[in-house]
Amino acid sequence: MSRTPLSPTDAQALLKAVLAANDGTSNPRLRLVLDSLIRHLHTFALEVDLTPDELQVGLDFLVAIGKATGPEKHEGILLADILGLATLTQLRGARHAVEAGGTEPALVGPFWRANQPQRPNGSAIASDATPGAPLKVTGRVTDLEGNPIANARVETWQASPAGLYENQDPGQEDMNLRARLGTDTDGRFWFTSVRPAGYPVPTDGPCGKLLAAQGRHTMRPAHLHFIVAAPGHKVLATQYFDAEDPHAFDDVVFGAVGSLLRRFEPDGQGGYTLDVTLKVERGETRLPHCPLP
Ligand code: BEZ
Ligand code: FE
Repeated sequence: MSRTPLSPTDAQALLKAVLAANDGTSNPRLRLVLDSLIRHLHTFALEVDLTPDELQVGLDFLVAIGKATGPEKHEGILLADILGLATLTQLRGARHAVEAGGTEPALVGPFWRANQPQRPNGSAIASDATPGAPLKVTGRVTDLEGNPIANARVETWQASPAGLYENQDPGQEDMNLRARLGTDTDGRFWFTSVRPAGYPVPTDGPCGKLLAAQGRHTMRPAHLHFIVAAPGHKVLATQYFDAEDPHAFDDVVFGAVGSLLRRFEPDGQGGYTLDVTLKVERGETRLPHCPLP
């Protein structure tokens, strides 16, 4: 510990002291992360000449994020999403798999629910009351070499043609447009649904205020979510996006990337088809945090 008092104008000495205070962090990864975070926070505050009042605005914002988070809604996830941080960490984490031909990941988002209903292949995941153009989804889970993976768990969820997840919409049945499926011996899964619509991310909390302050739109392009958990393989969370959606190239959470943009093919009878191959890499099977019960 230094015996010389800090100079009130010496930002370098202050940073040094704060970094030294972090030296005792016993978890090496946590020490590294905190060290970098401290450096960036100090650099940021100096760069914008942050005032105490502005710091308070930022702290109040974080409190508001916490208050807006609960069993029904996860504003913290939404914040990471609209700042592009969720997409960045996912793409970074999967870069080797993607270079080796693996499916590109996309953020999980705040709407995945635990205990989605197990449904047999061929099921309709939309209740009879759900309006919209029919959509037939076929998929295959393979390893990076293209070998089929049997008995993989595939989670899927999507918004309705009105752009609402069932948990946001009292007009939909519980667990509508959600399913947990298993792959057959050829790695295949299939189900019927309705073509989803794009939708705005929730704007009734602090993230909505931030988006408005930035003058940003709030829309996600229409998409279906998938999470694949195959024994002996890393979990893949991804989404397939309607390439014809007006926001296909302008996703508010930056998740609509590269090969994940797809044309929902017309089937000639007023419906659409979507075929996906979900290629996963070997590794530990660890499911991501599930935001909703
Ligand atoms: C979603 O795709 O469900 C989603 C992702 C980020 C923010 C809001 C929704
Ligand atoms: Fe979504």
